[in-house]
Amino acid sequence: MVKIVIQKKIRDFDKIINVDGDKSISIRALLIGSQSYGICKIKNLPKSGDILSTINGLKKLGINIFFRNKICFIRGNGLNGFDYKKNIVIDAGNSGTFARLLLGLLVRSPHTIKIKGDKSLSRRDFQRIINPLKKFGAKFVSNNKKNLPLKILGSDYLKPINYLEERGSAQCKSSVIFAALNTPGKTIINAKKSRNHTELFLKFLNFPIKIINKKKYDRIEIFGENYFKSFSYDIPGDLSSSAFFIVLTLLLKNSKLKIKKVNINSSRIGFIKIINKMGANVKFINKRKVCGEQLADICVSSQKKFKPINCPTELNSNAIDEFLIIFLLASKASGVSTFRNLEELNKKESPRLKLASVILKKMGIKVKVNNTSIKIFGNPNLKLNKEILINNYHKDHRVFMTSVVAALCLGGKWIIDDVESHMSSFPSFLSILRKIGYKL
Ligand code: S3P
Repeated sequence: MVKIVIQKKIRDFDKIINVDGDKSISIRALLIGSQSYGICKIKNLPKSGDILSTINGLKKLGINIFFRNKICFIRGNGLNGFDYKKNIVIDAGNSGTFARLLLGLLVRSPHTIKIKGDKSLSRRDFQRIINPLKKFGAKFVSNNKKNLPLKILGSDYLKPINYLEERGSAQCKSSVIFAALNTPGKTIINAKKSRNHTELFLKFLNFPIKIINKKKYDRIEIFGENYFKSFSYDIPGDLSSSAFFIVLTLLLKNSKLKIKKVNINSSRIGFIKIINKMGANVKFINKRKVCGEQLADICVSSQKKFKPINCPTELNSNAIDEFLIIFLLASKASGVSTFRNLEELNKKESPRLKLASVILKKMGIKVKVNNTSIKIFGNPNLKLNKEILINNYHKDHRVFMTSVVAALCLGGKWIIDDVESHMSSFPSFLSILRKIGYKL
């Protein structure tokens, strides 16, 4: 348990940075690569904890993965081409995305496979994917268990399903899409809008997937047992990682930042829409499409005033990983901000709605919170000169990085435990802070 002590604000900066590759797309690239035929080449794969768990898990399933000149090569053996010994255990570490998506790929596995995770992942709900995967025909050995560790046994007699995804969870939707890849016939999904990287990836590979976009839901049809070839893929920068540096720049004086080559998929930019409504002026330049995904360079500069927001709930799932840092911005707004229907936030790596209210209160901000919503009474003159201890936060990477940003722009003395927690999604976080001028 290494802690960081921050007792000086960061000085103004005018810099250009790159953030690590997108976590969601990287995990999908590796999992989809494992099901292709031939050798895939993946550029800009981050060496974060979640990606290392994915690589190690796939290696245990008999997939050959190696690096040459920082490029990741992965040899796919085709659909259901895993080759492994009996009684293997896969450790998904902190990664809900890897664990849930992998279970989708295992619906045909001939032997029982045990999936486990770290303490934080072991408290998270897996019933949400056990239910649809059972309908395909997969079996879960420890019945009535809704958390990891879990044991899955596949079936040779899979049936396509008709699945309604009502949470706006891309992990549930993608787990079912992956199960459908191995299932003969047409699987139909009606999913509340959420990030659509899996669908775009399969489209990029010309896999027979049909997507009909409706206002609140997407209808997705997957035609299973269709083989696809290996691919080359360039992972874009992660908007969720960029969010910490965007808010840091906004809350300082006289600072400017350009973040290059970031994924701006429309199902991910709820955060930008929300903060721009609050008065930020974040711009996308050099927009282009690479490997089926929309990319841009992001430009942001410091802003003096922020308006409070009554956050439109239809943006929730497109900003789901950014709410902690959005709450920090709301704490400096000139009025009361309200965020509703956020029950999913307490089901992340930590109970984030609860923890956000604890941290904001420690900062002297008035909040009203319940299980689904939060009201933040912003104070534009907020300056801190007390000691704030951030501990017992389940090593949630986003709690760590939000606290560091708060410390660097609000002042006070912050003691933040478990520095290593940021490694699960954003290993370059501290080195980028050094690059923009902070002496850690
Ligand atoms: C993810 C989906 C989201 C998000 C997570 C990554 C994905 O989770 O919070 O960090 O890659 O599909 P849910 O699907 O549970 O909302």
